[in-house]
Amino acid sequence: MTPFTLPGEPHIHYANGHLQMEDCRLDNLAATHGTPLFVYSKASMLAALAAYQRGFAERKSQICYAMKANSSLAVLQVFAQAGCGFDIVSGGELERALAAGADPAKIIFSGVGKTRQEMRRALAAGIGCFNVESEAEIDVLNAVALAENKVAPISIRVNPNVDPKTHPYISTGLKGNKFGIAHESTLATYQHAASLPGLAVVGIDCHIGSQITQEAPYLDAMDRMLDLVAAIEAAGIPIHHIDFGGGLGIDYQGDTPPSADTLWAKLLTKLDARGFGQRLLMIEPGRSLVGNAGVCLTEVLFMKPGEQKNFCIVDAAMNDLPRPALYQAYHAIVPLEQSKQARADSPVCDVVGPVCESGDWIGHDRPLAVQAGDRLAVLSAGAYCMSMSSNYNSRPRAAEVLVDGSSAHLIRKRDNLADQMRGEQLL
Ligand code: LLP
Repeated sequence: MTPFTLPGEPHIHYANGHLQMEDCRLDNLAATHGTPLFVYSKASMLAALAAYQRGFAERKSQICYAMKANSSLAVLQVFAQAGCGFDIVSGGELERALAAGADPAKIIFSGVGKTRQEMRRALAAGIGCFNVESEAEIDVLNAVALAENKVAPISIRVNPNVDPKTHPYISTGLKGNKFGIAHESTLATYQHAASLPGLAVVGIDCHIGSQITQEAPYLDAMDRMLDLVAAIEAAGIPIHHIDFGGGLGIDYQGDTPPSADTLWAKLLTKLDARGFGQRLLMIEPGRSLVGNAGVCLTEVLFMKPGEQKNFCIVDAAMNDLPRPALYQAYHAIVPLEQSKQARADSPVCDVVGPVCESGDWIGHDRPLAVQAGDRLAVLSAGAYCMSMSSNYNSRPRAAEVLVDGSSAHLIRKRDNLADQMRGEQLL
């Protein structure tokens, strides 16, 4: 068989007819741990991180992994050990990051709706920065910090009103989104925050959206951010760090986002030209660090030919892989056996799960040459799949394995029935 490398991900390839991740055969992992099964490549995650690290070589920088993309403890541990900080959005994410060995000083807390309890806990843990998003949040955080006898380090999230040209549900930097402070109000908001004794202004941040595949929105957002930094500093408020958020896209279906180092070479040229190249730069990438590093293995339960559509019914479903149902997202689907790859005359099928609704689809109109009992890999499933999974239809959450060379570590057991019913009581 000819060697075949999958688009977007060199750590997943066919070898001797079998799909492998690094040096592990995926069919063996499916046989050992059952399906649906998420499998992640440590080398792929570290390679994605290395592209950012190359981009920031010789610069003062802090990469804060946006852990909402995949918050499994062992995944966090890989990034913590590689020196990453974390971008968190809840008290639960804070505890997970700490449990995985995060340095609290490298944690930044994003999100429009932090509770007082979450603020208190994050202050006690000594996180590096609260990314605040409204005047009301500024006043509450000030009060919470004063009551705790602490000073909360803050950055204000600016809404630069730039169109990231991505799915509307994951656009966040446009007027009309719930995120950030409007560009026009930013200076006044900084002046207000700087006057409050419980807060210390340390930075500025933005995040314009997710799965961004073009450079222009980043360059535009940066210009608008730097205009603001200049205005805020002219008003006597120093900005120590500039945080450009996350959002860089990955290749799901022949998408061609810039690589992290190429993008940052351009952004740094602009930062240098405008005299900000020596600031502490922060970023919050999620998807681009883990998305292509993961696959979800699933077994074909039944083939169901139909008059209008053929269905390939698999044992993974929208509770495991919610992105197609939520965003009409595309994930490539390939067989674990290379001999079962689709041919020109293969029937076209909808790949669907067992959940009882028509929104439960994983791929539409895919040519497939598989039969019941064959296994498939749903690709680019490392980001926003397990972390968004649920127990809908009382389906157990899947198990997860992390591959490192020829070793495969079970990093999360499949839910059992007791896990699913934990905390519930009969009347
Ligand atoms: N920072 C902030 C403040 C964010 O809101 C997000 C993502 C990120 C960083 C990381 O963005 P990334 O680098 O992963 O694009 N569930 C959706 C994606 C939601 C993204 C939400 N915010 C999906 O599956 O496509």
